[in-house]
Order: sequence, then structure tokens, then C-alpha cells
Amino acid sequence: MKIKTQRPRGMRDVFGDESDFYLKIRDLITNFSVLNGFRYVETPLVENIKTFTSSLGESSDVVSKEMFVIKGKEKGDVLVLRPEGTAGVIRAYFENGWQNFTQPVSVFYLGKMFRRERPQYGRLREHTQWGIEIINSEDPFADFFTIFVFFRFLNQIKIRNFKVKINSLGCQRCRRKYRTQLINFYKKYKNKICVDCQRRLTLNPLRLLDCKNPQDQEYKKKAPNILNYLCKFCELHFQKVIEFLDYFKIPYELDSTLVRGFDYYSRTVFEIFVENEEIALGGGGRYDLGEIMSNIPLPSCGGAMGIERLKIILDKIDFKIKKSSSKIFVAFAGEETKAKAFEIFLDLQGNNFFPVANFFKSSLSGQLDYANKLGIKHALILGFHELGQGTIILKDMEYGSQEILKLSNLTKELKKIVG
Ligand code: HAM
Repeated sequence: MKIKTQRPRGMRDVFGDESDFYLKIRDLITNFSVLNGFRYVETPLVENIKTFTSSLGESSDVVSKEMFVIKGKEKGDVLVLRPEGTAGVIRAYFENGWQNFTQPVSVFYLGKMFRRERPQYGRLREHTQWGIEIINSEDPFADFFTIFVFFRFLNQIKIRNFKVKINSLGCQRCRRKYRTQLINFYKKYKNKICVDCQRRLTLNPLRLLDCKNPQDQEYKKKAPNILNYLCKFCELHFQKVIEFLDYFKIPYELDSTLVRGFDYYSRTVFEIFVENEEIALGGGGRYDLGEIMSNIPLPSCGGAMGIERLKIILDKIDFKIKKSSSKIFVAFAGEETKAKAFEIFLDLQGNNFFPVANFFKSSLSGQLDYANKLGIKHALILGFHELGQGTIILKDMEYGSQEILKLSNLTKELKKIVG
């Protein structure tokens, strides 16, 4: 069929089985986050461009070429679709006076992010992130706990073949010293490194370590190691994070070339990789956006995981999302029983049975087919005969056996049978 419009490139519609997945994973993540002490937070999908230029860095890929810009009517009013969640959350912290809450403030979000990247495997222009932020804590336990939360969640959903890559970028002072050494080192190979790296050398030298170009790998290997430039405080901080990871047996690998794509990070940075996958499933680290946004120090730590990438991994390990958590279906045989069946359905709802029905299908076999597709174990069937008798049929959808229950004590009887 020819239609006159199309969805934007690199964006998706979610429906059918996939929508079951997204609903379920949202549930799992929400419950898991709350259980681990994070409060849900929502910030706008659209933010003032300054929220990101000042924090992620003008030269970061996201700011320099990947933002969806919306020009406003008022002068100087430039809004963008948010490319990530952290900067908006810290803006919200200051704007809403979260300083008055008990510190640190631990929040989570689950929402869409937008980056105008070249669409490819695992890389979309609109993606969904589960993010957590522990705001206003310098404690290395916060760095550990951020990683631990993702580790624990992945284990819970049976993803075990992953590794955490971790590094420390030190504080501003350590980085200044390191940057000079890195520039001196790369200057010697200025004419040999790739064009992108030549640009990085002047714009953002740390990103030289992020180069994936095969011809540059030998320089990267020989480049000075940032871990040798950490000051006493940063070294001790990182050591503590590592000790916690060791204690809780989290599989990690030190990677001194891990620098992440945004400028706001300091000290710990990490990325989560699943075996045989080149793209990261999650990433994050320690940052201080307080200094940038409000001239007030606000040491924080956080991370985010891409839900679409998580789905790619889960599909590979054949993770099954249960179609329906409902155990009871309400069916009616004939139009004259429909209203009463609906009344029974509402009564069950009121008694926390979470029943399912399809009152738009008039044929009984059509309704039972629907129940089967949802994998529901028991169906209540109200026929004309039963209506007259004040009873209802309970059918076991797996074995086909049936029994008659009295409507007068239906909920009591059902509790005994379906729990
Ligand atoms: P990020 O590494 O840019 O970090 O994104 C986090 C995760 O979002 C990635 O690991 C990936 O799973 C997913 N993701 C990113 N871009 C795309 C894309 N184009 N298509 C599909 N999935 C994608 C951040 O955004 C930081 N705000 C994380 C953080 C929170 N750091 C501290 N707190």
C-alpha cells in the first residue's frame, strides 16, 4: 500500500510483540530502580541548547553534529531534542531546589533521547535510555553502586556474558598534566595519524584515545597512560571503587583508553560490553555539572543503558517475555450473556484478579482463541444455561477439563483454584 508520508529516518514504531517487551521491561526497570532507592524523575524531551553545549562540550560529537535543533520564535531561543538525560536532570536539580531534599539525591529516568547519527546496527536517531544518577556524593561507593545496579539488573534478566570496562580520568588538575603529555606524544606523529585525530589533537586531545582507526592503534598503545597521572586523591578514590568491585566480584577490566564521549566526566568512567558485541550496552561515570551550571560544586555519579540495545541482546539469548500475567479470562457464549459476563469481569477486577476478556468478539471460539494466544491458563465461560442457574463454567485451557462454579461465591472459589 502506498502512503504519502513516512516515519523519520532512524526512528521506529513499536507494536505487537515488541510492545509487550517494552511494557514488561519498563515494569522490571521501574520496580528494580525503586527497590534500589532511586526515585523516578521526568524532564522535558526538549531543552535549551545551552543545557548541553556547556556540559557535554562544544567539540563532542553529540553537540557538534548530532543534535536535532528546533529554532524558537524569540531571538536567541534555541531548543533541542535532548540527546542524553544527565544534563537535564542536573538542571532540574538546581531549578527545583532539590538541595533541600536529603542528600545525595538518587533518581532514575526511562525515556527517549535523540541523536542525529548515521543509523546502523544498534545506533538509532531516537533511542530509549534507562538512566540513574546519584547526585551530590563524592563517596567512591556511589561509583561502585552505579555499576553494581546495572550488574545486578543484567544478572536478574539472565544476561551474564558481559564485562565492565573501567578507567579514571582524574580531576581537572590531573587531566591538565596528562593532556600536555598526550599532546607532546601525539605531536611526534602528527602527519601519520588519521584526519580525525589531527583535528582532535587541537580540539579535544583526550578523544585521541577513542580513535577506532586501525592505522592509529599502535600510537594509542604507546601513548602515556592516564592512570600514571592521577593525583593522590584521585588515585585513592579510584582504588576504593576497584576494591568494592573486587569484593562483590563484578567482572571488570581496566582500560586506560576509555574516555567516553562527553566532557563532563571526571574520575571514574565505565562502559558495559556484552561478549561479541562491539557497541556498548551502557556507560557512565562520575561528573560535576554543578560547577558548570551554577558555580556550586555538585559531585555526582550515574550511568545509562540503551533499551533498544538491551533488546538486541535479549533476543539473542531468547529471553521470553510472558505475554500476560493474567491467569483468568472471562468469555460469554451468546449476546444475551454479554452484559452479565461484563459485570462478572468488573467484579473480578474489583477483587484484584486482573481478568482479561474480549467483548468485541461475539463467537465463543474466537474469544477462547484469543485467550490461548495470550497464554491464559483458566477461562470462565458464561452460557445461557449457566446464566439461568446462577453458575459459570471454569475451563482449564491447558487440559480442557471443566467444572461448574456458583456465581454467589465465585471469587472465593477462584482464589482457591487460581491463587
Ligand atoms: P551514553 O553512553 O552516550 O551515555 O549513552 C548511554 C547508552 O545509551 C549507551 O550505552 C547505549 O546503550 C545507548 N545509546 C546511546 N546512543 C544510542 C543510539 N544512537 N542508538 C541506540 N542506543 C544508544 C549517556 O548518555 C550518559 N548520559 C550516561 C550517564 C548518566 N552518565 C552519567 N550519568
